Amino acid sequence: RRGVALLAALITVLACSPGDEPPPSSHHLPADQRAGTPGIGDPDFPRDGNGGYDVAHYDLAVAYVPATKRLDGVAAVRARATQDLTSFNLDLTGLDVRGVAVNDVPARFSREGDELTVRPSKVLDSGTTFTVKVTYSGLPKPAKDTANLGTYGFIPTPDGAFVASEPNGSKTWFPSNDHPSDKATFNFTITVPAGVTALANGEMIGQPVTAGGRTTFRWRERHPMATYLATATIGKFDLRQGSTATGIQNLAATDPKFKGSLNELYTRSGEITDYWTTVFGPYPFSSTGGVVDDYSAGYALENQTKPLYGGFNPQETIVAHELAHQWFGNSLTIKRWKDLWLNEGFATYAEWLWSEHKGRQSAEAMFQQLHNRPESDPMWKYPPGRAKPDDLFNQSVYTRGGMTLHALRRAIGDATFFTLLKRWTAEHRYGHVTTEQFIDLAEHLSGKDLTPLFDAWLFQPRRPS
Ligand code: ARG
Ligand code: ZN
Repeated sequence: RRGVALLAALITVLACSPGDEPPPSSHHLPADQRAGTPGIGDPDFPRDGNGGYDVAHYDLAVAYVPATKRLDGVAAVRARATQDLTSFNLDLTGLDVRGVAVNDVPARFSREGDELTVRPSKVLDSGTTFTVKVTYSGLPKPAKDTANLGTYGFIPTPDGAFVASEPNGSKTWFPSNDHPSDKATFNFTITVPAGVTALANGEMIGQPVTAGGRTTFRWRERHPMATYLATATIGKFDLRQGSTATGIQNLAATDPKFKGSLNELYTRSGEITDYWTTVFGPYPFSSTGGVVDDYSAGYALENQTKPLYGGFNPQETIVAHELAHQWFGNSLTIKRWKDLWLNEGFATYAEWLWSEHKGRQSAEAMFQQLHNRPESDPMWKYPPGRAKPDDLFNQSVYTRGGMTLHALRRAIGDATFFTLLKRWTAEHRYGHVTTEQFIDLAEHLSGKDLTPLFDAWLFQPRRPS
């Protein structure tokens, strides 16, 4: 083996001899290896996302007619090649692709399952920026996974659509690099029949424009966003807008059936967003709020700047949860789904912090009560630090994930714990995070060996003592 290594070193030296071409970088691959991979490298979701490029921006123009359930879309995706690309994939489920252009030149494409493969007319060189434009249409169908995830993605409703895509449902309505490890900014241009409202992430650009019986809404999210947090929720809505006490733009929207929740949702969302800035650090985005639609999803989703509540009057506990996600999940985004407790454990702990703040049950009392659950409770068998792809949103990821943070708070004390929360959100603002990074920061700030604590709470299939 040593001989082989020496020979390889000699070849490298020869290849670098003066006067020669520079050695090919690892990004310049042989012609037969220059196809972007059909997955981004998450072993639990091998076909989610794609390899070979990094999206910077999605410019989505969609027209949707609730009566026919037909969507017509043009998605312009700006990306940077991270290797030479003879072809690359986007994720897209169903829908008909009419045409694809790369840098305004028509490109060949093919479909197989949820993969749209694009073959640009010229190789895209590593490091260059390109724009791929996909023109598509059809009747979007939500993703259905009765065993695990329920119904998600673009879900048609009688008056529009309920759009909540975690974990991988953005492909049901636009071609994307559908994995949280590739975040991008978004522009939305959404055209609907006059009288219908379209709500997307971020802030509205200008006023809606009505012509020929159709209204176009433009929205912009100028902070990086994971694809699963993108929404174009459509229907009849009553709106209330203004700003929070600390001056953050606030928009609440409710389906007419939930009109009675509008003021409460608006006020609570503002109050809670402001309070979280004192606990978690500056608000990462330019607006806050919430949307209640008349679709019984059985869940809420923390859509960036606009959490979406599926067919119920949201109580303040769940508002506290979804707004905590704006920091934990949305600003700080997981690289791999196995680390989901960094979203759900933190958002669940935030519920307990809210209760404590309001002088109701303390986090300590909540922790004690949960820790007293018998050994037979399924939570103790499921280690939350390793979310399972076939049972991603298991209650343990939420509850035992939240308990992990309380166990940590007890071990390092309140002062260090709350400093840690702010340091964590500051250091990784708009970025990506892993469990290892959180453990490292906790150990660094506390000066303690916390490996046994995190191991017992996150990784062992039994009740921690
Ligand atoms: N992140 C959401 C929440 O905790 C849950 C999303 C569940 N997604 C699903 N497809 N069931 O609030
Ligand atoms: Zn959550």
